[in-house]
Amino acid sequence: MGLPSINPTTTKSWKALEEHFKSVKDLEMKDLFAKNKNRANDYTIEWEDFYIDFSKNRITEETFKLLLSLANEVKLKDAIEAYYNGEVINKTEERAVLHTALRGKKTDTVLVDGENVMPEIFEVKTKIEAFTSNIVNGTRKGYTEKAFTDVVNIGIGGSDLGPAMVVDALQYYKNHLTTHFVSNVDGDHVNEVIKKLNPETTLFVIVSKTFTTQETLSNANTIREWFLNHGSQEAIAKHFVAVSTNIEKVKAFGIDEVNIFPMWNWVGGRFSLWSAVGLTISLAVGYDNFNSLLDGANKMDNHFKTEDFESNIPVILSLLTIWYNNFFKAESEAVIAYSQYLNQFATYLQQGIMESNGKSIDRNGKPTNYQTGTIIWGEPGTNSQHAFFQLIHQGTKIIPADFIGFGKSLHGNQDHQDKLISNYIAQTEALLNGKTKAEVVKQLESQNLSKDKIEELTPFKIFAGNKPTNSIFIKKLTPESLGKLIAMYEHKIFVQGIIWNIYSYDQFGVELGKQLASEILNEFDFNTIANHDASTQNLIEFFKKIR
Ligand code: F6P
Repeated sequence: MGLPSINPTTTKSWKALEEHFKSVKDLEMKDLFAKNKNRANDYTIEWEDFYIDFSKNRITEETFKLLLSLANEVKLKDAIEAYYNGEVINKTEERAVLHTALRGKKTDTVLVDGENVMPEIFEVKTKIEAFTSNIVNGTRKGYTEKAFTDVVNIGIGGSDLGPAMVVDALQYYKNHLTTHFVSNVDGDHVNEVIKKLNPETTLFVIVSKTFTTQETLSNANTIREWFLNHGSQEAIAKHFVAVSTNIEKVKAFGIDEVNIFPMWNWVGGRFSLWSAVGLTISLAVGYDNFNSLLDGANKMDNHFKTEDFESNIPVILSLLTIWYNNFFKAESEAVIAYSQYLNQFATYLQQGIMESNGKSIDRNGKPTNYQTGTIIWGEPGTNSQHAFFQLIHQGTKIIPADFIGFGKSLHGNQDHQDKLISNYIAQTEALLNGKTKAEVVKQLESQNLSKDKIEELTPFKIFAGNKPTNSIFIKKLTPESLGKLIAMYEHKIFVQGIIWNIYSYDQFGVELGKQLASEILNEFDFNTIANHDASTQNLIEFFKKIR
């Protein structure tokens, strides 16, 4: 079984989309709205507490139909089955991809190598729950019998970005524990965190799936050394816990087996916040909230698995990406969340999306003859409006954007929330309609400017409009709705990978730089310099002089 491996460009739908593109590429969305009074409703999905309006896209009924048939032609339904059933769809690493099982129900059966993994998952969940409660209640204490006040998550990539983003997003739900994240191998990062810590009351969570990652182990060792200046070797057991698949390496680091939270090879790093990698989340917001996050993701999993493609949120969002990336040749996508709580959301998505789909070899081992992975970026609104929106509105590039907003302000400040969301809605309207020459002239005339001045200024003040956006509205930011939102993007990544016929779950592209860095590191202290290009050689020599 496994995944189908169909070059999308060979499908009938792709060819039809190419033809169709020629006739629709210059259509104005505002004309489409004028023609079909029901367009907004036709292209809106209401699901649970989500409202997804994708009507402000450069699509017609025919585009939508062809995109859906593309999904069928590449056998997306079979691929979804294979994904959920634990087939080895991460073929290049010989692994199943089962982050969906992590948020499954106890009564589910998910087989890996013929064995149901749900009991193991729930065993770890029980361990997370008990540990969280002991730390939060203060029953588990540090080496001087004081309750913990601070938690430091030491990890990088998927072992940092997910927990850091969620803890930040759910800070409204946080308890008294102060959380810190150390990721960069830059010693200034770890030292700035250490400065704030009291060793007697700090818990360290070392998160590394492989437990071989240079950054994480360097930071963990530096922290352990600092800790041992205060506490004894025995105190390590009270203050250090680890999340990893590599039990032997964790034990060799000096962590007690009882303090190890296992994870599994069938969970990819960038999809792992639902596992014990999310321990810091559980500690920060309590186990019940962590569990609600998982429940939300589970609801989105069920939606994605069972909903018809024409009303399936991740499928539609993904097809729209394909439309812009492969036909309009858009290079990037923006994610603009109108919530300061989602400050780290785009950064988090960058790993998920770009590490997964930044591939140029297809599932047949051949170079792709079409563009894959989109570049993802974004900042919260309204700050982004005052930073880069100029380029989205009047630049030369097409940048499809997801707008995400919530109905309620968690602190109940309706005045601010109304202002915030009026900006959200206004931006999508401005991007759709733009501002015509006639509108600009009329406005300038009202300012009593001379005819010449009006003529001079007019071109600069025109907005072409016709810029695509998806509007994602969620009633309220809760652990559950956040879980749904994250899972929505995870499945979007999956669908993109299926259509682009690439393997989304390996990340060999991060290896080469790591390997060269370890060679260069050795060269800093010795005279033996390997055979580098002249520029690299100069950089090494220069650094050796100034370090
Ligand atoms: O950046 C590469 C990567 O392998 C990611 O996929 C992963 O999330 C990160 O490194 C950290 O890996 P680990 O959890 O094994 O330390």
